[in-house]
Order: sequence, then structure tokens, then C-alpha cells
Amino acid sequence: MKLAYISRTQWILILLLISSQAFPTENKPFQESVIIFNTICAKCHEAQCSGRASFGDAYEASIEHIVRHYNQASEKKWLQKELFSILNHMKEKCAYYPMSAPVPPQRIWNSEILGKMSTLVEKNYFVPVGPLLPGTYRLELSLAKDEKVTVHFVSEIFDTVIEDCFLASEKQIVIPITIEDAGKYYVRVYPRNPVQITRLAIITVDSH
Ligand code: HEC
Repeated sequence: MKLAYISRTQWILILLLISSQAFPTENKPFQESVIIFNTICAKCHEAQCSGRASFGDAYEASIEHIVRHYNQASEKKWLQKELFSILNHMKEKCAYYPMSAPVPPQRIWNSEILGKMSTLVEKNYFVPVGPLLPGTYRLELSLAKDEKVTVHFVSEIFDTVIEDCFLASEKQIVIPITIEDAGKYYVRVYPRNPVQITRLAIITVDSH
């Protein structure tokens, strides 16, 4: 049997296909899927560290479940697939899916950066706030209007530092944070009604 001749263009296409699957973080919409997963799905799937990924059948069987928990995904095959592969990453690596989200100087996030870390519809926020040393800090949130929000402050190994509901007053919320273990931390915000966060800051009160 004669081997089929593969042209240069076909090779380039094949390589593009492989690399686009190997580095899904490269495309922008993927980051929103990570935020959807980390705010909506991670509530239950956090710290699910079986070390093994699920394939084929599990995906087909879980579509209904995924759509039940995130109705916005009902018509979006690509989103269902991405959420499934983000869950697999969490199960295999026992970690959040990596995000390209450098920590700004002084740990102050403005509304433009924050916009890229929220889901479009619900305005759920997932912000990697980077490494913190043991000590006391202040998490400051500025909102576009006074609203009730649930705030989670969690570590990279899924320890919960804060999980509480706060009502903004004069568009501000200030939350004291005590860090006992050095490591990377994440902030999650769930507004009762969609509201834009215009500023998020982590102020060091006393660290050692
Ligand atoms: C209220 C809790 C809860 C929420 C929210 C939730 N799940 Fe699940 N999920 C479960 C439970 C429980 C199972 C079944 C048992 C298990 O795998 O531990 C499951 C199973 C799955 C499975 C099949 C796992 C496998 O390996 O066979 C997938 C995939 C999945 N969920 C994805 C998602 C995605 C994506 C979201 C967000 C849109 C989500 N889940 C939201 C609780 C939840």
C-alpha cells in the first residue's frame, strides 16, 4: 500500500490543530470558561483530586448535569467540552486551572483587569491574588452600587479562609483577612444581583 502524501500545508494544519489543543489557555474565551468553572462548578468539585481524568462516556453522561448547573452552556458544545476538560485538570493536578493573570503592583486590581476575571452574565468574579505570607491583611472591594455579595477567600490547596456574605455600604466592603500558611490565594465574589467590581485591593496590615 502506498503511503498518502501529506503536503506542507496539511502538516501545518495538523501542527496547528495539535498545538491549539495542547495550549487551550492561548485562546481568550477559554479564560471565561475557567472562571465559570471556578465560580459555579468548583463549589462542589473543588478538591476532587482522584489523579485520573474521565473520558468519552463520562463526558456524554455529564452534559445534562453540566447544563443543569450552568444553563448558559445548554446550546454551547464548546463550553460544555471546556468545562469538562477543566474538571479533568482539577482532578488530575489537584489544582485550579492556570490563568494568565499577573498580580498588579501594590495588589490593586482596577475595573479593566477585573472585567476579564468575571463571568459575563452573573458577574461572578474569580481573582488569583497571588502568593501571600502569613500575616494580617485587608481585602477591599469597591462596587458600582451597594449590593449584597458572597465572598470566598481560598488557598491553592482549597483551604477556606473566608466564606461569608457582606453588604456594601457607600459602595465599599472591607474584610479583615488572617493568613496562617504561605501560599497562593484566590478571591471569589458572587453578587446577589449582578454588580460590577470597580476595584479590588489586598492591603498588608502586618506580615511576617
Ligand atoms: C451542587 C454540586 C455540584 C455542582 C454545582 C456541579 N457538580 Fe458536577 N457533579 C456533582 C456530583 C455530586 C457528581 C457525581 C459524583 C462525582 O463525580 O463525585 C458530579 C459529576 C460531574 C461530572 C462527571 C464526573 C466524572 O468524572 O464522571 C462532571 C463532568 C461534572 N460533574 C461537571 C460539572 C461542571 C462542569 C459543573 C459546572 C457547570 C458542575 N459539575 C457543577 C456535583 C456538582
